[in-house]
Amino acid sequence: PVKRVTGETVAERLTENARERILPARYLLKDEQGEVVETPAELFERVATAVAAVEEEHGNDADRWAERFEELMTHLEFVPNSPTLMNAGTELGQLSACFVISPDDDLGDIFDVARQAAEIFQSGGGVGYSFSALRPKGDVVQETGGIASGPVSFMSVYDQMCETIKAGGKRRGAQMGMLRADHPDVGRFCVAKREEGRLENFNLSVAATREFYEAVQDDEEYTLYNPRTGEPHEVTEWTARFYNESYAETDPDIVEENVWRDYADEIPGIEAYRGDLLTEGEEMTLPARFVWRLMVDGAWRNGEPGLFLLDQANAEHSFDVDAYPDHRIEATNPCGEQPLEDYEACNLGHVNLSLCVADDPPHWDDFRERWDGDAEAGDDLDAAVDAFLDEAVDFDRLDRIARLGTRFLDDVVTASDFPLDEIEETVGRLRKVGLGVMGFAELLVQLGVRYGSDASVEVARQLMARIDHVATQTSHDLAAERGVFPAWEESKYADPTAHPEWFRRHTGEDPAEWEDGYPIRNHGLTSIAPTGTTSMIADTSAGCEPLYDVVYFKNVGRDVQGAEPLVEFDDYFLRVLEANDVDVEAVRNEALSLLESGAYDGPSSLPIPDELADLFPRARDVDMADHVRVQAAFQEHVDGAVSKTVNVAHDADRERIADAYHLAADLACKGVTVYRSGSRSGQVLSTEPEG
Ligand code: GDP
Ligand code: 5AD
Repeated sequence: PVKRVTGETVAERLTENARERILPARYLLKDEQGEVVETPAELFERVATAVAAVEEEHGNDADRWAERFEELMTHLEFVPNSPTLMNAGTELGQLSACFVISPDDDLGDIFDVARQAAEIFQSGGGVGYSFSALRPKGDVVQETGGIASGPVSFMSVYDQMCETIKAGGKRRGAQMGMLRADHPDVGRFCVAKREEGRLENFNLSVAATREFYEAVQDDEEYTLYNPRTGEPHEVTEWTARFYNESYAETDPDIVEENVWRDYADEIPGIEAYRGDLLTEGEEMTLPARFVWRLMVDGAWRNGEPGLFLLDQANAEHSFDVDAYPDHRIEATNPCGEQPLEDYEACNLGHVNLSLCVADDPPHWDDFRERWDGDAEAGDDLDAAVDAFLDEAVDFDRLDRIARLGTRFLDDVVTASDFPLDEIEETVGRLRKVGLGVMGFAELLVQLGVRYGSDASVEVARQLMARIDHVATQTSHDLAAERGVFPAWEESKYADPTAHPEWFRRHTGEDPAEWEDGYPIRNHGLTSIAPTGTTSMIADTSAGCEPLYDVVYFKNVGRDVQGAEPLVEFDDYFLRVLEANDVDVEAVRNEALSLLESGAYDGPSSLPIPDELADLFPRARDVDMADHVRVQAAFQEHVDGAVSKTVNVAHDADRERIADAYHLAADLACKGVTVYRSGSRSGQVLSTEPEG
C-alpha cells in the first residue's frame, strides 16, 4: 500500500507515541507547574503563525501564509527542526538547531564561548566548535610564564559546562569538537574519548586537510603547525613525551596518556613508530598513517573520532575561501550536517519523502522489466530511474513541499531571536537554511527499491537534485521580492562563470546566462539532518538513513519514556502486514516477546512471509560501501552536508572502517561517521534489552 496521512483532526494524524509521549514531554507548552497547556493542533498553529508573521514585513498576507504553513505541518509533509517547534511564538524565540562558535587562543575568549554555548543549549540548539586555534599543550604562555593546557583540557571544561546545563533544559546539550589533523595535539584528541565516560557531551571529528589526507594515501610524513605562530610546531618537551613511548616508560605520570601502549599487539606495523619519533626542538612531523590509524582505531572501538573533510567542505562552500578567507569554515554542528562559518547558525526543515509517492506506483522490478523490453530505451540506469520516478513519484506534491518549505525557512531566519549579537549579525548577512529530507527509506520500500542498490543510489541523486533546484529557484524568487542575502556580492552566486560546475549543479542553470550574477536570498539551502526526534513526530524513517529495524528500543530520555524502554514499531511495516492479511497483533506480540528475551533478529525472525521481510532491509543489512554511496549521492546536490551513520557489523575489523573513510573521501563526501554495532553501551537505537 501507498503511505498516506489520514484523519480529520491533527490528533488523529499523529501516532500514539507522538501524541502521548514525545510532544507532551518536549514540545507542547507548559505552565509554571509543568502542566501541558497546548494541544498538538495548537502547537502547529503557534509555529505557523509566528513564522508567517514575517510575511507581513514583505507586504504579504500573513494569515494566508500561516494557513499554508500550518497545513503543511499538520499533514506531516514538512517538519521544522526541534527548536522551531519548541520556541516559535514564545518568549524564547530561538529557532535554530545548528551553531558553530569557536574559541580563539585566548583565555578570556575560551570562557566567553563557554558562556555563549550555555545560552544556546538553554534554547535547544547544538553547538560545534573548532579547537584548532588553541595553542598546543605544553606550549608557552607568555603572560604567566607558564605552559598551556591545550585544546583537549579545555574541551573537558566545556563538557562539564554542558553536563551541568542539560539538567535544566528541555534537551540535552549537543556538542561537536573538531581539531585539525595538523594540530600538534591531534594524537591526544584522537584518544580523548577512548575511555567510556570521558567527553560524553561531545561528538569528535578530526578535520582532515587535503595535505594530511594525501600524505596518508602516499604513506608520507606531514608537518604539524602551532596555531599561535602559524609556523611548524617546534617539538616541546610535552609533545615529545606524549608521542614517544620511551619517555613514557621512564615517567610513570604520563603512562596513562601513552598512545602506543595498547596498540602494539593490535595494529600491524605500529611498532615501526615506537620510541624515537620526535626530538625536542625539531620541527614536528608525523607519519600520516600513524595519526590515521589512531583515528580509525578510535572509530572502531567506540565510534569516535569521525572524519571531517575540511578542504572538501571549503571547496564546496558558497564562497571562494581563497579570495575571502573570512568565510573559511573550520567546523560543523554536532551531527555534521552543517559546516558553518564562525558565529553562523542554521535552521533546518525536512520534506517527508515517504508521502511523495504517486497513487499507484509501479514496482521497480516490474518497471525495469518493461523498460528492458523496450528496444529503444537503452540500458542506461539514469534514464531508467528518471522514467521510473516520473511514474512513481508525485512531483507536484514534492515540488510544492520543497517550495513552501524553503519559504518557511527563510521566514524563520528573520523570525528567530538569537542569543548573541555576533550570531544575529552573521546569520543576517548569510541567511543560510537547511532544507532536507526524512522518510527516504520508506519511500524506497513503497517503490520496491532496495536501500543501497544501484537504483536506490540513483533515486537519491535524482530526488535530491530536484529538491535542490526547487529550493534554489524559490530562493531566487524570494530574492526578487526581498533582496539577496547581504554578503551576496562576495559569493560564488555573484560570479557564476568563475564556478561553472558548482553553479550548474546547485541551480540547474547555465552559468553563461547569469554572467552578471544569480540573485539568491540564501547562501546555502540544503542539508540532510538526522531528524532523530522530528522523524518520530512525522512517523517515518530518519533523514536519509535506512530503517534501523521494523521494531526496536529507542532510548530518548526519561522525560519521554519514563522508566520503561520505548518500543517503536515501524507503522508502515504494520500497515503492509495488514494489507497482506497477516495477523498483525500476533506479529506484534511475537516481536515484543522476542525483543524481551533478546532473541529478536530482524523482520525475518518474525512470523511473516519472506517476501515481506525482504522489503525492509535493516541498517545492518546494508553493505558498508552502499551506505557511503547513498550518502555521496545525496551530497552531490546538498550545499550543506549529510548526517549519516555508516553501520558496520560488530565483527568488522579496522580495515573495514578505513575503507569506509577512503570511499567517502573518493566520492566527495564532506565527512563520515562509522558505527560498529554494539561498540558503545547505551545505544540510542537497539534491539537488545538494555542495549
Ligand atoms: P531534531 O530536530 O530534534 O529531530 O534534531 P536532529 O536529530 O535532526 O538534529 C539536528 C541538529 O539539532 C543537530 O545537528 C544538533 O545541532 C541539534 N540537536 C540534535 N539533538 C540535540 C539535543 O539533544 N540537544 C541539543 N542541544 N541539540 C540537539
Ligand atoms: N561527525 C558527524 N556526525 C556525527 N554523529 C555522531 N558523531 C559524529 C561526528 N563525529 C552523528 C551520527 C548521526 C547523528 C545522530 O550524530 O552520524 O547522524
